[in-house]
Amino acid sequence: MATLEPLLLFFILFFQCYSSGEASTFTLFTAKTAAANAAASKPNPFTAKAAALRYWDRKIPGGGPHPSFLISKLSPLSALDIATYSSMAAGDPSSLTPRLPALCSAARLLCSPVISPSLEKHQDNSHFSNYENMNFTNYGSAAAGGKDSFKKYSDSLNVPVDTFRRYSRDAAGHDDTFTAYSRDGNVVTTNFTSYATAATGGAGSFSSYHQQANVPNLKFTNYDADANGHVETFTSYADDTNSGDQSFSGYGKHGNAVPSTFTSYANNSNVINSGFANYAEDGNAATDTFSSYGRNGNVPETTFRSYGANGNAGTESFTSYRDESNVGDDSFQSYDKEGNHPTVKFTNYGNSFNEGSDRFKGYAENANNPNVSFKTYNGDITGFTAYSKTGVTFKSYKNASVVPPNLSASPESMAETASPVRSGKTVNRWVEPGKFFRESSLRTGVVLPMPDIRDKMPERSFLPRGIAGKLPFNATELTRIFAAPADTALGRAVTDTIAECQRAPSRGETKRCPTSAEDMIDFAAQVIGSSAAPRSTESAAGSKGDILIGQVKGINGGKVTKAVSCHQSLFPYLVYYCHSVPMVRVYEAEILAVDTKKRINRGVAICHLDTSDWSAGHGAFLALESKPGEIEVCHWIFQGDMTWTISD
Ligand SMILES: *[C@@H]1O[C@H](CO)[C@@H](O)[C@H](O)[C@H]1NC(C)=O
Ligand SMILES: *[C@@H]1O[C@H](CO)[C@@H](O)[C@H](O)[C@H]1NC(C)=O
Ligand SMILES: *[C@@H]1O[C@H](CO)[C@@H](O)[C@H](O)[C@H]1NC(C)=O
Ligand SMILES: *[C@@H]1O[C@H](CO)[C@@H](O)[C@H](O)[C@H]1NC(C)=O
Ligand SMILES: *[C@@H]1O[C@H](CO)[C@@H](O)[C@H](O)[C@H]1NC(C)=O
Ligand SMILES: *[C@@H]1O[C@H](CO)[C@@H](O)[C@H](O)[C@H]1NC(C)=O
Ligand SMILES: *[C@@H]1O[C@H](CO)[C@@H](O)[C@H](O)[C@H]1NC(C)=O
Repeated sequence: MATLEPLLLFFILFFQCYSSGEASTFTLFTAKTAAANAAASKPNPFTAKAAALRYWDRKIPGGGPHPSFLISKLSPLSALDIATYSSMAAGDPSSLTPRLPALCSAARLLCSPVISPSLEKHQDNSHFSNYENMNFTNYGSAAAGGKDSFKKYSDSLNVPVDTFRRYSRDAAGHDDTFTAYSRDGNVVTTNFTSYATAATGGAGSFSSYHQQANVPNLKFTNYDADANGHVETFTSYADDTNSGDQSFSGYGKHGNAVPSTFTSYANNSNVINSGFANYAEDGNAATDTFSSYGRNGNVPETTFRSYGANGNAGTESFTSYRDESNVGDDSFQSYDKEGNHPTVKFTNYGNSFNEGSDRFKGYAENANNPNVSFKTYNGDITGFTAYSKTGVTFKSYKNASVVPPNLSASPESMAETASPVRSGKTVNRWVEPGKFFRESSLRTGVVLPMPDIRDKMPERSFLPRGIAGKLPFNATELTRIFAAPADTALGRAVTDTIAECQRAPSRGETKRCPTSAEDMIDFAAQVIGSSAAPRSTESAAGSKGDILIGQVKGINGGKVTKAVSCHQSLFPYLVYYCHSVPMVRVYEAEILAVDTKKRINRGVAICHLDTSDWSAGHGAFLALESKPGEIEVCHWIFQGDMTWTISD
């Protein structure tokens, strides 16, 4: 090194630091020059990221500095990778499938894992910990006695997929324990099929299963079918989860004396859909207990279909069901229909914070000698149709002024009696505090509640347009290319995103789903012009608490401005749902801690001045007690989302 010319040495150091992007090392060696600053803020010129930044500069020369939140989402792929993958995409996109592990890691995408088949032979008392992404088939089939325990399985993973098929089938006296399974996961899929089929005795226990998962898709099919005396316990199942689906079908079907207990199921969850179908159908003496089910949830939706139908002497009890939850809907269809002497007990049902809706259709209909009791039931009685005319009792309605259904009267006249309950209900729906606010709240010194604006989606990058543009934006094709079948959490996300993107725009809306940063830049340039700039709230600081508004700046001098808002979708690579929103004012507001008055965040808020096309049931009108067209409605731009306006 000592013999090198100083200038050459400078260039070697310059290039090394430049390519690794480590600005701090660089400034150690050289004086702060303009060149150094430029080097520090620019990535390796041969990456997709640098190419996207050059495209951005060319397309929107007047947009001002590029904000780091968007730079961080640009593709990290090298020029060589782009060339390789884009020619594969151009030829046959499905040729990418076998290359997914390398592509997904280099391009920072969200992909399904490669599932390894389990080759283990069953041994008594197996312990599995820190396992992930396994495909268990015929594991523990015909096991006699013993116990398997799964602990911290697929912990804290992105997109885990676990499948169990014919696990513990025909086993006798065999126990399974799943603890802290798939905890904290993101976009989680688990698939239990024919689990414990025809097992005799033994017990399965699931606790803290899928706790704190985001967008889980959980499925139990023909679980415990034909089993005899096999006990299942679910404790703290799917607690604290966000936006998922779970389905139990054919569970305990034809089973004999298969008790299952759900305790604290979906406690504290947000928008969980649960479906129970053909559950305990044709079963004998099934005992199912649900307690603290759906407690404290936000909009839990549960459907029970043909549950316990044709069963004999089954007992189901629901205690503290949907307690303290916010709205939500339950539907029971053909529940215990044609069963023989079913006993169903609902205690403290629907003691919701905000009342939801219940539909009971064909409930215990044509059953022989049913015994159904509702105690302290706080539901909407208009939802009972075609239920058994005998053996159904209602005790102590929560609201004494609501007339309990007259069981000898027809369901139609019951509906009339109850109609005031239904009409009064919608008004009470709960909307997260601070989610919507008036423009007058955006003033220095105002204290406001701040909703949870955290980006809950897994981190991903854009694909360069050279690759994304060559992939068919078609759910059938993309779920295949990304090896994410429609019945996995990721496959579902792909299908939903594409459907939402293909939905016709609403009146006055111009929308686009950019599948690359370059596409988004084009759309912003087209709508806003050559000075378009993206803005987003700086961080999630202040979420779920009170905040104090500091200095407020109106974009475009506080006048009405053109804006394109872009919402993140759940997809293997970044895809945004962007739409131009007419008649808005956009603000940047300093967000201060209420007690210390220190700046903790900088928020971007958008105020919609014309709300006349919004639906009357929109959360904004419930929260602000108003009607479409009567008020303006403002909200924060959430972390991960952005709004493009003119740079200012
Ligand atoms: C799991 O393995 C079975 C057979 O071993 C196979 O049929 C199935 O497709 C595999 N599932 C996944 C998701 O890989
Ligand atoms: C439900 O969740 C809340 C908050 O996470 C917790 O305090 C409570 O104990 C849980 N309830 C049950 C029955 O587990
Ligand atoms: C109905 O079930 C309740 C328990 O929920 C029990 O106390 C009662 O005796 C049963 N009635 C009949 C007629 O079987
Ligand atoms: C219940 O309905 C029946 C049939 O419509 C009617 O004869 C009876 O008086 C009603 N009972 C009460 C308490 O309203
Ligand atoms: C009870 O129901 C009546 C009629 O729907 C309603 O006006 C009243 O507010 C309810 N009371 C409570 C405590 O929910
Ligand atoms: C998506 O691709 C499938 C399979 O290639 C094709 O059958 C279907 O028509 C395509 N859908 C649309 C909307 O183009
Ligand atoms: C789930 O199991 C069902 C039944 O075995 C199977 O058809 C389906 O492909 C599985 N899905 C996944 C994602 O493993």
